[in-house]
Amino acid sequence: MKFYSRKLIKPENLNARNTLFGGVLLKWIDEEAGIYAMTKLGTKHVVTKFISEIDFISSARQGDVVEIGLGFKQIGRTSITFSCEVRNVFTKQTIIKIENIVFVKVNETGIPQPHGKNLNNIEFTN
Ligand SMILES: CC(C)(COP(=O)(O)OP(=O)(O)OC[C@H]1O[C@@H](n2cnc3c(N)ncnc32)[C@H](O)[C@@H]1OP(=O)(O)O)[C@@H](O)C(=O)NCCC(=O)NCCS
Repeated sequence: MKFYSRKLIKPENLNARNTLFGGVLLKWIDEEAGIYAMTKLGTKHVVTKFISEIDFISSARQGDVVEIGLGFKQIGRTSITFSCEVRNVFTKQTIIKIENIVFVKVNETGIPQPHGKNLNNIEFTN
């Protein structure tokens, strides 16, 4: 698992209990994982296909800084799968875990398209 973007929790990111709103966190994760899929598959034509069970483990508060971690899990013909963990930058406490996030490469009309990547030619440096 490699940690990429960091986010500062601001007032507009909070729920009624004044902790981080889950929907905001999922938006950040979807965006971060989408960018990761684009860089791994070498195309911007990817869509989110599937997000598995989401475990909200602990909360975050205004002023906290969180970091979004992604791990490569598997590569298919048109898809790529990651796992995700978000944690507090300073305490390292886990906030959320997702086992599988699947992205699919699509053509201009939204039909799945082979990405041509496999374990031998996928880049892990970015
Ligand atoms: C993405 C989309 C084109 C896939 O269509 P589809 O008919 O499921 O396509 P396929 O059955 O050919 O599957 C495509 C790939 O997704 C994988 N896949 C399909 N359903 C899956 C599921 N429930 N879980 C995990 N992977 C799945 C398949 O295994 C396949 O991967 P592979 O080619 O690497 O083996 C279609 O579902 C779609 O347009 N969804 C909306 C996407 C979107 O708008 N996302 C933004 C958020 S709303």
